[in-house]
Amino acid sequence: MKSEIEIQKVIGREVLDCRADPTIEVDVITKGDVLGRADVPVGRSRGKNEAYELRDGTDRYDGRGVRKAVENINEKIGPELIGKNVTKQREIDELMIELDGTENKSKLGGNAILGVSLAIAKATANALEVPLYRYIGGTNSYVLPVPVLDLIEGGILADSGLDFQEHQVMPVGAESFSEAIRMGIEVYKELGKIVGNKWGKQSLNVGVEGGYTPQIQDPRDALEAELEAIEELGYDGKFVLSLDCAASHLYDSKKKKYTLMGDEITREELMDFYEDLVSAYPIVSIEDPLEEEDFEGFAELTKTLNIQIIGDDLFVTNKKRLKKGIEKEAANALLFKVNQIGTLSEALDSAEIAYRNGYGVQVSERSGQTEDTWLTDLCIGINAGQIKTGVTRSERTSKYNQLLRIEESDKSTKYAGEEFRQPI
Ligand code: PGA
Ligand code: ZN
Repeated sequence: MKSEIEIQKVIGREVLDCRADPTIEVDVITKGDVLGRADVPVGRSRGKNEAYELRDGTDRYDGRGVRKAVENINEKIGPELIGKNVTKQREIDELMIELDGTENKSKLGGNAILGVSLAIAKATANALEVPLYRYIGGTNSYVLPVPVLDLIEGGILADSGLDFQEHQVMPVGAESFSEAIRMGIEVYKELGKIVGNKWGKQSLNVGVEGGYTPQIQDPRDALEAELEAIEELGYDGKFVLSLDCAASHLYDSKKKKYTLMGDEITREELMDFYEDLVSAYPIVSIEDPLEEEDFEGFAELTKTLNIQIIGDDLFVTNKKRLKKGIEKEAANALLFKVNQIGTLSEALDSAEIAYRNGYGVQVSERSGQTEDTWLTDLCIGINAGQIKTGVTRSERTSKYNQLLRIEESDKSTKYAGEEFRQPI
């Protein structure tokens, strides 16, 4: 075996994410001294069916240390991989799944396994001397995604008064990714003036994803403000709006009621509210409009709203749950978060299943990110057409900067624009 592709060392370490919470970084080093390094993102608005995130539960970092997971990488996973061919991604992922032996990766930790899985892919791309997106997707990877910009935050990711987690804008009318991000950020800055004037300077404090945090309750006020910023800049028709409602966090399973703007409402009332929103605003996509087990409700909304309905907590990038959704016609798009499932191979399977069944795919960050940029390459690698990674601060702009670099260096790439759901 050529030394460039033979695994020599696997090193796990504890590093910090953007919230200064511990997370995992993994180095995979081949005999030819090629390095693949990957960081693991961390969710807060987590679905209950996600892969297990192993944390120490000791005094360090208020229980959130990841030394056990690091130990699992260095002492249990690493030794099994020495001498193996780094290009055998699926074989290595399957070996880790087997070593773990649980349904949700709770023995070794989904975070430990994912770190190794991603570092393996990066080491391979480096050994082959091709960009990561080209390695992941091959010759036909060329779609640059529409950035789904979370300009106003709510839910459990921000201390605004809003129930819905993300009030997003999508620059679908841009000609290129660089134009899209410029227009998106211009709207963000313009919106800052509007939000500051209307609801006070405190609103300009940003949430976890870099969006504003006004003390308002009604999502319609947030959408109005976004439209005002878009119109002020003369971008009417070039932007559409979207939401991540993260409705599991608004749901009380005992009462079977949702809380919206201080009121307890039924699922039917919430569905009616969505119908009104979609008829009043240019909303083209809603993520997690209902709680994570309501496949029937998702199916009903998919039919009645006739827009993109994305399953995040509903599918957790898990092919079993996605197949169940497809059978029931629940949602028509997959939110793609690799750490929900725990290996690159399994996540790629979920994207493939989504495409083959006419579902769209939106590649997504977690609210806890690092400066690592593999998310961008993964998005282009699978020709996803839409990426959600927040707005400001380096752990988010780093993903956009990587997109700008790839757009500049690879002339075969093409911005998805209006075709974000079916870019090919
Ligand atoms: P998370 O939330 O990364 O905190 O889980 C993001 C989302 O719900 O999409
Ligand atoms: Zn979500």
